[in-house]
Amino acid sequence: MNSELSAADVSDRDIQLDPARLPAHVAIIMDGNGRWARQRLLNRVLGHEKGADTVRAIVTASREIGISTLTLYAFSTENWQRSVLEVSALMSLLKKFLESEKPVMMANDIRLNAIGQIERLPDDVQNVLRAVMQATAENQGMRLNLALSYGGRAEIVRMARTIAEKAISGVLEPSSITENTIVDYLYTHDIPDPDLLIRTSGEMRISNFLLWQIAYSELYFTSTLWPDFSKEEYVNILKAYQQRERRFGAA
Ligand code: IPE
Ligand code: IPE
Ligand code: MG
Repeated sequence: MNSELSAADVSDRDIQLDPARLPAHVAIIMDGNGRWARQRLLNRVLGHEKGADTVRAIVTASREIGISTLTLYAFSTENWQRSVLEVSALMSLLKKFLESEKPVMMANDIRLNAIGQIERLPDDVQNVLRAVMQATAENQGMRLNLALSYGGRAEIVRMARTIAEKAISGVLEPSSITENTIVDYLYTHDIPDPDLLIRTSGEMRISNFLLWQIAYSELYFTSTLWPDFSKEEYVNILKAYQQRERRFGAA
């Protein structure tokens, strides 16, 4: 936990979360698994395994708190550059996570969704992913949105290509293109923009996550490494969010 948050803890200790002012959509860049492992002289993969436990805890906490949509950045388009060993460990962890969490998602009324280049994932992972998405499609309690082989720029390129094709084939008039048209062709077309974006591990960057969608998101950076991130810290961040004034450019 960083010192700024600890200081906030003391003054916020008695402040309760206001259920009426919760962020509808929380997005998280789950970073720091590798450093968590390195600090313990462990293999990076063990950091990812511990990180998966945090994912479980934060998904459950989000559902309990009443968040409508939780988007987790699990694997970026750039993460394919990592070693074959690390990528395959991440893919098998993802598969294991989906299999073990399916009953949890059913029991908690959570609907699973995925954004990104799903077709690049190994076939067995795609199959489990599709099966869990199908099984949970009617669940209404919370939307869990996993960003897998996701890149904000790739998403924008995909949108531009689709719109260009529609314009060429005559079904879309270029002068009729609005911000809503752009949104229609993003992976997130049926999800509201994130109200709050959290990044763990102390890095102060976006790393190609939801570039269009975070235009007016509140940003929160914590130095806590993802495997150490807890429900307590999450609640404190939500409290800090509730102290902020969102203006969206208005006076
Ligand atoms: C985040 O942890 C998980 C993924 C990007 C898949 P990292 O693996 O990036 O951990 P650090 O940044 O090296 O500590
Ligand atoms: C961002 O973390 C991607 C995910 C958390 C999945 P990275 O560790 O890949 O980002 P950089 O390399 O620090 O920018
Ligand atoms: Mg990282």
